[in-house]
Amino acid sequence: MRIIHVTDTHLVGPGNLLFTLDPTQRLEVVLRKIEAEFSDADLCVISGDLTDGGEPEAYRTLRDRLDNFPVPTRLLIGNHDNRENFRRAFPETPIDDNGFIQSFDDLEGTRLIYLDTPEPGAPQGRLCDKRLGWLKSTLEGAAGKSVVIFTHYPFLSIGLPTFRNILLSNPRDVMPLLHAHGGVRHIFCGHAHVAMAGQWEGIPFTISAGTCHHIVPDLASPDLRFIALTPQFDVATITTEMIHVHRIEAQDPPVLAVMPGV
Ligand SMILES: [Fe+2]
Repeated sequence: MRIIHVTDTHLVGPGNLLFTLDPTQRLEVVLRKIEAEFSDADLCVISGDLTDGGEPEAYRTLRDRLDNFPVPTRLLIGNHDNRENFRRAFPETPIDDNGFIQSFDDLEGTRLIYLDTPEPGAPQGRLCDKRLGWLKSTLEGAAGKSVVIFTHYPFLSIGLPTFRNILLSNPRDVMPLLHAHGGVRHIFCGHAHVAMAGQWEGIPFTISAGTCHHIVPDLASPDLRFIALTPQFDVATITTEMIHVHRIEAQDPPVLAVMPGV
């Protein structure tokens, strides 16, 4: 199966800019690229920070655009989102028994789990006991299946000092659940605005840098420096044998030369 991973769209109300950028226009570049080249994808997951300030108008902008998007889309929320305004704009998005925006799909023998990780008012994300309970039972229900997880907040260290205190606050509650299942094959994350890959305790993860503003991956300084690379997204190809994640620049770079047939 093929899954598109988009993240951190940070949409703002009509006519507003963010760090001089137009988030809606930058998302549009990404969606057009997907429509042109990946419209046969099985799914598109947008992993949170859909809006910059949780504005109802920004959610409406996203809703209107996705109404005309050919790839089935799943939405997560991030720390910049507002649960109530999100749910008003997307009332059909599944929630768990406690009202958290968490759900899953079973596709080709793989359970795709979409987590609700932000904790309102806190800089760190968290899976509270209720959300952990849902994750535990959702993993138990996927015995014998492989599992892929989508989360806004990365769980463990991403090697950047500036993110030390703004990741998930309780990864030690989460990782044992993943290990207990034994078949978690990949974790897709947003939040960092940095493109990177790695593994936590043997489980591979990727972070997509997102469509809007980006952050300098400074391995030494805790300072947060915002920059604007080209809007980008990831394309994951998942088979029983392998997972490939390709990072796609939505604005085509100039082709320097073509070598036919190579
Ligand atoms: Fe973000």
